[in-house]
Amino acid sequence: MIPSGGLPNAKSSSTADSSVLQISGGHRLQGHVKISGAKNSALVIMAGALLCSGECRLRNVPLLADVTRIGQVLSALGVRLKQTGDILEIDARVIKTSKAPYELVTQLRASFFAIGPILARLGVAQMPLPGGCAIGARPVDLHVRGLQAMGAEVQIEHGVCNAYVPGSSRRLKGAKIYLDIASVGATETLMMAATLADGETIIENAAREPEVVDLANFCIAMGAKIYGAGTSTITIVGVPQLHSTEYTIIPDRIEAGTFLVAAAITRSELILSPVVPEHLTPIIAKLQDIGVPIIEEAPNCLRTLSAETLRASDIETLPHPGFPTDMQAPFMALLALAEGDSVINESVFENRLRHASELNRLGADIRVKGNVAFVRGVPMLSGAPVLGTDLRASAALVLAGLAAEGKTIVQGLQHLDRGYDRLDTKLQQLGARIQRIPLAQVNAEVASNPTVEELPTSGATNRENVQSQ
Ligand code: UD1
Repeated sequence: MIPSGGLPNAKSSSTADSSVLQISGGHRLQGHVKISGAKNSALVIMAGALLCSGECRLRNVPLLADVTRIGQVLSALGVRLKQTGDILEIDARVIKTSKAPYELVTQLRASFFAIGPILARLGVAQMPLPGGCAIGARPVDLHVRGLQAMGAEVQIEHGVCNAYVPGSSRRLKGAKIYLDIASVGATETLMMAATLADGETIIENAAREPEVVDLANFCIAMGAKIYGAGTSTITIVGVPQLHSTEYTIIPDRIEAGTFLVAAAITRSELILSPVVPEHLTPIIAKLQDIGVPIIEEAPNCLRTLSAETLRASDIETLPHPGFPTDMQAPFMALLALAEGDSVINESVFENRLRHASELNRLGADIRVKGNVAFVRGVPMLSGAPVLGTDLRASAALVLAGLAAEGKTIVQGLQHLDRGYDRLDTKLQQLGARIQRIPLAQVNAEVASNPTVEELPTSGATNRENVQSQ
């Protein structure tokens, strides 16, 4: 096993910062797309591997900048990692420190979730607070309150969450925890912490997302006793230790949803696999309501047919099994081209409609009031330079660019590369005219041709949005 640092491949943030996607829109897509492993599963399962007193072998790990980052967090804790293609081996037999590095945790919210396993393994953890991000304040109070209910003493000082378990056993205690909000991250943090606690933990109003179930299945494969994952009450009976395992991560339902929208917005026919259709129920139902036919071609395989007309439809984002907030931006791009008026209500995050104004640059007609976007469908979009302000916003702009007439340039690829496994390459393979080119090349074009529109400035906006979803 090679020591850490060994998570190559995913594009570095500096490369992504200095590149843009140039899309020549208005062309149909065709073919089969392979869906990668789920980002939100991979990140938390990598953190969950800290619970294991042996080695874990993960399969179907997506190639993402966020995976690289959480790998760096684990390395900084003294864990050894080795990646070969989509297989990742994690050896957390020895955790050398309970202190996670500030520079890394503040870049990736999901790394805060590691506080659960670190505390469970070592009885002490020092985790910098992740802070707010592009889509909202995103506190961690539910994580902290749950750990306190399990007997941890927690103090927040100088932006760091210092937690320790008093007593000689240093073992957390089972507890009954009610979550005010069915938070995905809090459910995951507390479920991981409870696997090694003394006694039984019951999490009520737990998140029911497929990634929570995936994490539970991974922990069960290591010997944890978890019942009810996927329902709103999860019961965990603590065990003294967890053992080595091999585990395959589920397909990414948000990546699959993004390709379904890519097909719909370009009026194309695509085949997607592997997928778990039940994970996609709210997305498929909404696409069918909009007028996009989708059929289950074979187990774990979907075919979308070209839509004759795109119809307006209202959306309210909700915890699973409601419509996922991570698909809100891509659907806004689609509804911008539907016939009629749609209302999109973002009820999960407080500041997740910033892509509306960028879509308007492409000719969309979207008005935002508070957390609601009023989308008046237009017959066509036209290419322009745009800036992605967060991960899913960037994906929405790529989708809009595929449909828009002429050339669209999408900036802000550091967001896109965190959460999509080679989106541009996969789209190219489907026939999209999309190219990753150096920002300098676009700037040179602007300088030599005054009729070319300047890129929107990325400075402050991009820097403030370093965190991922
Ligand atoms: C996860 C996903 C993200 C997705 C989100 C909602 C990962 C790595 N990210 O994020 O892609 O968009 O679920 O499906 O899995 N909240 C609190 N206090 C807390 C925790 C959360 O008030 O302690 C609030 C948040 O601010 C937000 C809501 O609860 O308004 C839901 O957030 P949560 O489910 O926790 O999202 P994440 O786990 O951060």
